Amino acid sequence: MSTPIVIAIDGPSGSGKSTCARKLSEALGFKIVETGAMFRTLSWYCQREKIDLDDAKAVTNACRKWKASLVQTDNAIRLVVDGIDPGDALRAAKIADGAAKVATIAKVRDWMKAKQRSCLDFGSLVMEGRDIGTAIFPETDFKFYIDAPLKARDERRKLEGITEDLAKRDKADSERAAAPLMMGLGAICIKNFGRPVEETVAEMLSIIESRRRTKTK
Ligand code: C5P
Repeated sequence: MSTPIVIAIDGPSGSGKSTCARKLSEALGFKIVETGAMFRTLSWYCQREKIDLDDAKAVTNACRKWKASLVQTDNAIRLVVDGIDPGDALRAAKIADGAAKVATIAKVRDWMKAKQRSCLDFGSLVMEGRDIGTAIFPETDFKFYIDAPLKARDERRKLEGITEDLAKRDKADSERAAAPLMMGLGAICIKNFGRPVEETVAEMLSIIESRRRTKTK
């Protein structure tokens, strides 16, 4: 069996990276991991258990003790807690805001990193988030950074029926001390604005195929 590979996709909220990741995973036959959903799941769990999201010690303890495991549904790998997949509940703005808070806690990120790296047990991956190319799989040869202007990202979220303060989340994600959002070394920046998603995905696929060919030479 060939060694599994990881396609790392990072970028700010609403840049379209989830859509690109989903389409890429289908085209390549790889599993998809949306790591934001893992942070959202912890935020959802803490809010359900009435744990103060500003109390780093309490959140870290919860993260150490919760019964969270990875499951594969179709081609997606997701985190379930106490056997529950919170599903659409994760899309609420208060869950997203809470995710950005728990994501600042270094010990939470250590837990997430171990879990996210263990996704490789499921096979080759398309993994998207904020720190995949910088902290989770810095060794991968396949790194992308997807970007789009704030106005376009705001509009995309509104079309999805979601009201979020993306500027606030951008600031929190890129200014935090623990694994801030940034472009990984060797990452290819894709400007995903004003072009059809199929075109972006085709460009990414062609880069991946050419790198895979070079690697096998
Ligand atoms: O991607 P999504 O909007 O679902 O992510 C929710 C929040 O989780 C982000 O705003 C960010 O604070 C955090 N996150 C992170 N690192 C990741 C993925 C998400 O810090 N790899």
